[in-house]
Amino acid sequence: MINPDVPQSAPMVSRLSETQGRPKAAPDAAIEVIHLNKTYHGRKEPVLALDDVSLTVPRGSFFGLLGPNGAGKSTLINILAGLVVRTSGTVRVWGHDIDADMRAARRAIGVVPQELNIDPFFTPRELLEVQAGLYGVPQARRRTAEILDVVGLTPQAEAYARTLSGGMRRRLLVAKAMVHAPRVLVLDEPTAGVDVELRRQLWAATRRLRDAGTTIVLTTHYLEEAEAMCDRIAIINHGRLIACDTTEALLRRLDSKELTVTLAEPVAEVPAALSGFSVRILRPGRLVFSYSSSQPQAGAILDAVVAVGLTVVDVSTEEADLEDVFLRLTTAVEEPPQALAPAVTTGTLP
Ligand SMILES: Nc1ncnc2c1ncn2[C@@H]1O[C@H](COP(=O)(O)OP(=O)(O)OP(=O)(O)O)[C@@H](O)[C@H]1O
Ligand SMILES: [Mg+2]
Repeated sequence: MINPDVPQSAPMVSRLSETQGRPKAAPDAAIEVIHLNKTYHGRKEPVLALDDVSLTVPRGSFFGLLGPNGAGKSTLINILAGLVVRTSGTVRVWGHDIDADMRAARRAIGVVPQELNIDPFFTPRELLEVQAGLYGVPQARRRTAEILDVVGLTPQAEAYARTLSGGMRRRLLVAKAMVHAPRVLVLDEPTAGVDVELRRQLWAATRRLRDAGTTIVLTTHYLEEAEAMCDRIAIINHGRLIACDTTEALLRRLDSKELTVTLAEPVAEVPAALSGFSVRILRPGRLVFSYSSSQPQAGAILDAVVAVGLTVVDVSTEEADLEDVFLRLTTAVEEPPQALAPAVTTGTLP
């Protein structure tokens, strides 16, 4: 039976030289997605997985595609990879339309899928060699050993893939996507199930690739990592793009900071002299002051606390992070994203 979600005429990307067909000038946009829609027609109700998504991934960027489970991230990535057929819209990879110039588009991109689909009877070394063969990478330019090293699989190079652990298989998928040195590397949850140390190594390797000019697109549910790694972030929710901005600008959207002051003595209520601040009592000995991070008030707050005769034992501050922004945007679907996100706020926060 024909599955409408899987391309029927997907030829193997075989015997393609690394330079063949590439445009001379590198495009400004590594990926362009314009009015992209995808509806899955399964056995039950149709599922609108992508709803008029338009976004651009600038060349050379480290781009995070974030969203809750079922948001449509993998659908978008699988469309880029030619694994899922879109319902409508335009997609260009490195300037190549994925329909009109499918071979060039596929050659420009390496995709690490979310699903672990590895032939269990090949060894990592064999798998990478087969993949290099499919992409026509000449022997002299193959980097099998180097790539195995990057993903920490040198000791397992000759082991059957079926004997690898889950995290090792995921790293092998990352290695596979790197074989033809694609301009754009797309990683769909590359670190799911990968242990902390190797996750760090993988990120370091990905960052090196980016530094060498590869555009990186990734999805992850580790928002702390996304915040640290990505220079641009798009957030998808229920198939709709609800934010696409630089990481810094996204973080600025909440523009809130909290200063917690621990006192030597308990206070039952906020002293009247501090009522000009946005302040609450966390515990009898702790005052929490909220203010806008674009208008720092730490000095004035501490001066005022000391002036009312309280003794400060300790202070700590906390700033809104990507997780806060993500939760605000994805849990408040009824409100338009702009309404949640004043670029600059003045005065104290309520
Ligand atoms: N082959 C399919 N047939 C029918 N529905 C599908 C299919 N693949 C995905 N969907 C549905 O499309 C929506 C988007 O799924 P998708 O896998 O793109 O989400 P995701 O953002 O990658 O989620 P996760 O974070 O869990 O990986 C979901 O509602 C999902 O159930
Ligand atoms: Mg997914």
